[in-house]
Amino acid sequence: MNVIRFTDLVAQGKAKGQRVFIRADLNVPQGDAGNITEDTRIRASVPCIQMALDAGAAVMVTSHLGRPTEGEFKPADSLAPVAQRLGELLGREVPLVSNWVDGVAVKPGQVVLLENCRVNKGEKKNNEELAKKMAALCDIFVHDAFGTAHRAEASTYGIAQFARQACAGPLLAAEIDAITKALATPRRPLVAIVAGSKVSTKLTILKALSEKVDGLIVGGGIANTFMLAAGLKIGKSLAEPDLIGEAKAVIEAMKARGAAVPIPEDVVTAKRFAADAQATVKAAADVADDDLILDIGPQTAAKLAAQLKAAGTIVWNGPVGVFEFAAFEGGTRTIAQAIAESSAFSIAGGGDTLAAIAKYGIEKQVGYISTGGGAFLEVLEGKTLPAFEILAKRANG
Ligand code: 3PG
Repeated sequence: MNVIRFTDLVAQGKAKGQRVFIRADLNVPQGDAGNITEDTRIRASVPCIQMALDAGAAVMVTSHLGRPTEGEFKPADSLAPVAQRLGELLGREVPLVSNWVDGVAVKPGQVVLLENCRVNKGEKKNNEELAKKMAALCDIFVHDAFGTAHRAEASTYGIAQFARQACAGPLLAAEIDAITKALATPRRPLVAIVAGSKVSTKLTILKALSEKVDGLIVGGGIANTFMLAAGLKIGKSLAEPDLIGEAKAVIEAMKARGAAVPIPEDVVTAKRFAADAQATVKAAADVADDDLILDIGPQTAAKLAAQLKAAGTIVWNGPVGVFEFAAFEGGTRTIAQAIAESSAFSIAGGGDTLAAIAKYGIEKQVGYISTGGGAFLEVLEGKTLPAFEILAKRANG
């Protein structure tokens, strides 16, 4: 990756006494009372902030939280709970600063959190005037928000254009290094798991991966559409019949390379979508017209587990069944355990996938857990994300 790294600037003593503006992705899920329910992204942002503080910089950190209306700050949009959690993790108070675009008072060795940047007018559309004002706040802009690297907004893109110096933070750099390692020079066989409700949202990923991977495991509603493409019945399960042609094209592309999309041999069905619905294991060929497929069956799960254990590299995005319901979690649990036991380099990303990893306690056995949702998927699609495009441009000129 041809970008300037903050780690290198720090090592060269170039951050000392400088005003450093860190764009982090602190967009964490919250409960009804505003409590943080999952803090991975905050924890992942700490090393960059600590590095800047240790280097003697005056540190400003900002992030978006949710998708607020610009110019209309509401208490629910506030980063206050994040400031509190960040303070606990850093072991120091982190003051939260509102209305910061025109100036921020912060001294070397201090850190402040700048209130939700998406409340600023012009943020989403990357307004040049706003970006220039933000750039003027700092000597060094550090992009460390991998989860937002697929967006070209004023605090992620415009500021990188206009700041005196623009570089990649350690999290941003680690994410792209890990995904590149998994996809560009993978240890083979390379197996990808792409699951989720709709083929349409992941079609470009499926197509991009079908040219690279040795095995493409599909799950959830995506698998149902592939079952239709393979001539199987799926009852009243979620699927996109208009995309059967696209699914067939993916299957054919894989076949032509001597690779395969394994189609479930058995499934777990129910008559209704509910945690207490009666679960029935049956052969994929026996799905009835009023059945809902809510998980892969044990035979299919065992075969996929064997494939994962023999893999050299695994890319995981999406649970293969309704793992939130105990009766339909077997497939996802088996897959998670197989990934944990496999000697393959594994990389996982996406909100549901992270929830499954946490549920089965396999965090330490996954090679790399990405903080990206949409950004992770776009890298898998083979796209160059705006964050890397602008940082590379700045590194070259
Ligand atoms: C995410 O949650 O994937 C990132 O924080 C990006 O959020 P966004 O989709 O609202 O831009």
